[in-house]
Amino acid sequence: MNIKEWFKPTGNKVLFLIITVSIIIGGYFGITNLIESMRKPEIVFKNPITLEYGQHTDADQISSGESPFEILRIESIIDEAQSSYDKISLYEDGLSEVEYREESMKLDTTQVGEHSGVLYASLGKNIESFPFEYLVEDTEKPKLENVKDLKVDQDEALIHEFIATDPIDGELQVEIEGSYDTTIPGEYTLAATATDQNNNKTSEEFTLTVIEKKVEVQKPSSVITNGGTGRKVVALTFDDGPHPTNTPRLLNILDEKGVKATFFILGERADEYPNIVKQTHAKGHEVENHSYSHPDLSGASLAVLDKEVERTNKIIENLTGRRPVYLRPPYGSYNKQVSSNISNQIALWSVDTLDWKSRNAVAVQESALSQVRNGSVILMHDIHSTTVDAVGPLIDSLKAQGYTFVRLDELQ
Ligand code: NI
Repeated sequence: MNIKEWFKPTGNKVLFLIITVSIIIGGYFGITNLIESMRKPEIVFKNPITLEYGQHTDADQISSGESPFEILRIESIIDEAQSSYDKISLYEDGLSEVEYREESMKLDTTQVGEHSGVLYASLGKNIESFPFEYLVEDTEKPKLENVKDLKVDQDEALIHEFIATDPIDGELQVEIEGSYDTTIPGEYTLAATATDQNNNKTSEEFTLTVIEKKVEVQKPSSVITNGGTGRKVVALTFDDGPHPTNTPRLLNILDEKGVKATFFILGERADEYPNIVKQTHAKGHEVENHSYSHPDLSGASLAVLDKEVERTNKIIENLTGRRPVYLRPPYGSYNKQVSSNISNQIALWSVDTLDWKSRNAVAVQESALSQVRNGSVILMHDIHSTTVDAVGPLIDSLKAQGYTFVRLDELQ
């Protein structure tokens, strides 16, 4: 006989046994009274069979009741009045035992069935006079799957599915416990927790790693003012040219001395004297950007930067075939708005000769020689004849001190 047919459901007189599905529930029960232990308990079976306290039925006796036995263990049961009872156990060896912490009772029906995919057994006693429904408390923890360490790129969305199921409640929501911020790189220890309707929880920790977003660096952010001090080198730099007579004369002096220098030229003067720019480049000097018309660029709009800086980059590139690497902002004046919106690296200086102020060749030499050190970037202006006068003797003095001359792009 099919066990499910034998145990027919009894409507509201049901004891749900929440167990794993593979276990079959037996139908004969012994009852012992644990509270009023002096009272003689009765163990009543369907047929019925009455046993004395401490006695159990054995497999043979049970077999006459047509009931097979399998392992069944119920940890606790509760009734509608929320009384709590401990432990009903049926054993595989054919013995049955129900420990029921209430007054002794007779059970005259037993049933088993299926409800929402869960097997249950019911106990019944004098159906009309015993109108309680006994429910077995759900102590089964939810099952949690797909919990693992996760990685997400900073500021990106992460989609990951945690799966939580419960034999009684079906699919459950998973809550993530712990705090994290996907805009802030780091490792976050979190927990995924599934909670069923009876507040059974399953929780598992995992690590969420937020990977720092790599910001593309388009140019060096540092500003050049001086080279490394490890070599006895110096860079001569000349601003504001080209000048129609002073620049060619300077180029000849540099040729004679075998020195290469760096020229920060103005775009508008390059437009006027393109051949001098070409010649400067052809002689091996470095031609760099000093803006188009020498304004104070600090706080300049993007439109002004385009007109002053990018326009001059293009003029120089057209004349020399080499795109300028550096911008020396007029007056050394710039801010982040400038440095972050141009393609050039900012180049300043470490030795200011104040040649534009003194207009005196000896003063220019003395100013330079008093400040020079390894890696110095010396600022002069090739639009002044007094500066050009100073360059030959200055080179001689520096050479005498052991300095060699490099272009700015050779400084390290
Ligand atoms: Ni200038």
